[in-house]
Amino acid sequence: MKAIAIPALVINFKNYEEVFDDGALELAKAAQKVSKKLKASIVVCPPTPSLIEVCRGVSLPVFAQHVDLGKPGTSTGAIVPEVVKAIGARGSLINHSEKRLPLSQIKSTIERLRSMEMVSLSCAQTPDEVAAIAKLAPDWLAVEPPELIGSGKAVSKVRPEVVTDSVVACKKANTKVKLLCGAGIVTGEDVEAAIKLGAKGILVASGIVKGNDWEKKIEELALPMA
Ligand code: G3P
Repeated sequence: MKAIAIPALVINFKNYEEVFDDGALELAKAAQKVSKKLKASIVVCPPTPSLIEVCRGVSLPVFAQHVDLGKPGTSTGAIVPEVVKAIGARGSLINHSEKRLPLSQIKSTIERLRSMEMVSLSCAQTPDEVAAIAKLAPDWLAVEPPELIGSGKAVSKVRPEVVTDSVVACKKANTKVKLLCGAGIVTGEDVEAAIKLGAKGILVASGIVKGNDWEKKIEELALPMA
């Protein structure tokens, strides 16, 4: 399967009310329109119950927001990676600030996804955590200071050193891992600043999901990376 191009705009839908019901597919379709128009790499992460609908409704890469280590079969209630892959998802977020995992579980999840040729996008809260998780060799790693998540204050503008220190820490730990950043990203300028600081992509949620013109906002954020 074709590798997902970098730099990428990764849109985490979280569980915002705006993406309940038909919203998830609508948002994914808006992202697909922009991706085609700008030839930009965009990944969408819908809520778990909408994964199948979004995978079937768009040709963009779709990631789960989280997967568990439950095996196919007797693992009631677990989000099983094999099931996620079977419906067409290409990868998963791991260790998001809102779904923290112990290092051992991050490691096992990365290995499990890799063995299934799925993309792992782990999150980290600090440059030190970037260093520790990069050693576990996720495909992508996104640094997000938790206090800026959902704040509208972009990490690339108000804490640029978090991005630059993470770029250095990531490179030092594992040159193959692609370092993204997120938290508070709301404008094209925020994205531009992040790319200038060395990020290979953006992880974003509220700046898009809570907006009233999804297509326009996605285009604004994707443009600096296209
Ligand atoms: O997963 C993306 C995220 O946590 C950043 O959220 O709302 O600040 O873009 P937001």
